[in-house]
Amino acid sequence: MDVLLEARNLTKNFGSLHAVDDISLSVKKGEVLGFLGPNGAGKTTTMKMITGFLSPTLGETYVCGQPVSTNSVAARAHMGYLPEGAPLYGDMTPRGFLKFMASVRGIKGTHGVDVVESAARAVHLDNVMEQRIDTLSKGFRRRVGLAAAILHAPDVLILDEPTDGLDPNQKYEVRRLIEAMSVDRAIIISTHILEEVDAICHRAIIINEGRIVADGTPSELKGRSVYKNAVTLLMPVKYAQNAAGVLKGVKTIDRIEVAAEGAHVRLTALAKGCIDISQDITEILADKGWPVTEFTVDNGRLDDVFRSLTVGEI
Ligand SMILES: Nc1ncnc2c1ncn2[C@@H]1O[C@H](COP(=O)(O)OP(=O)(O)O)[C@@H](O)[C@H]1O
Ligand SMILES: [Mg+2]
Repeated sequence: MDVLLEARNLTKNFGSLHAVDDISLSVKKGEVLGFLGPNGAGKTTTMKMITGFLSPTLGETYVCGQPVSTNSVAARAHMGYLPEGAPLYGDMTPRGFLKFMASVRGIKGTHGVDVVESAARAVHLDNVMEQRIDTLSKGFRRRVGLAAAILHAPDVLILDEPTDGLDPNQKYEVRRLIEAMSVDRAIIISTHILEEVDAICHRAIIINEGRIVADGTPSELKGRSVYKNAVTLLMPVKYAQNAAGVLKGVKTIDRIEVAAEGAHVRLTALAKGCIDISQDITEILADKGWPVTEFTVDNGRLDDVFRSLTVGEI
């Protein structure tokens, strides 16, 4: 069986608030699913239901075929969870904390020592194992949380904003660790950082106000952007005004965006219906002889898709 995690119709109401509204998803072995949405969209609430920390108003989660609600011990044994912000015990060392977490999981004795060592190695904690957690950098503290999540070799990892609050180098490190951990696992990471999707996710679900509004591979999602197949030209200022006027008149071009860049101008031509306009523009360039120093065709922009799906009517 390839699907390791399946959530069906998860719904959570807090009084009259529909925090999570009928979310279904599945994740296969080897797959990293990005769970995207603005703050307050329902990501953490969904993850708490998936991991069995919060009972759904409706719906069920199956982990390796086991329903979480009626089999929570067995289901949780297959799952590792990095909660949002990953609260840790600051006055413990990583070794002390991980040993404690292993014992909570019922892993004791020499096996407990072994799993702590191998989890620490997997997230490169070896050199700080005896240092108090509250003296570690945020990046290292997050790694301690990741080590705790993988102690019992779970098949499924649920990571709530694993890179939130980290600097770019720390983000890069944590993403590499997640990639390495994904080989034989199913992983869900929630994030509101769009670059994360391109960096590590095989597939992404976008949620807004508790509902799924998009589900696809990063390139499928980007394909829904109005910038799909847009062509950007960089040219000197003195040619740009004329060029913008000519391009505006091309029947396959919807509109032109103009951005100044020093002595140059970046003209972006958005295609009508996102069709391929590169040939039309190449022909015009050859005809006009404008000194274009850059010519790029857009794959579409995730931030644009995200905004169009999650910003309410103004
Ligand atoms: N225990 C709770 N009681 C009442 N409302 C809650 C509770 N937990 C979360 N919410 C609300 O549910 C919505 C979704 O929250 P959350 O799942 O934390 O979103 P996200 O993780 O996407 O930022 C928010 O409006 C939040 O205020
Ligand atoms: Mg959250």
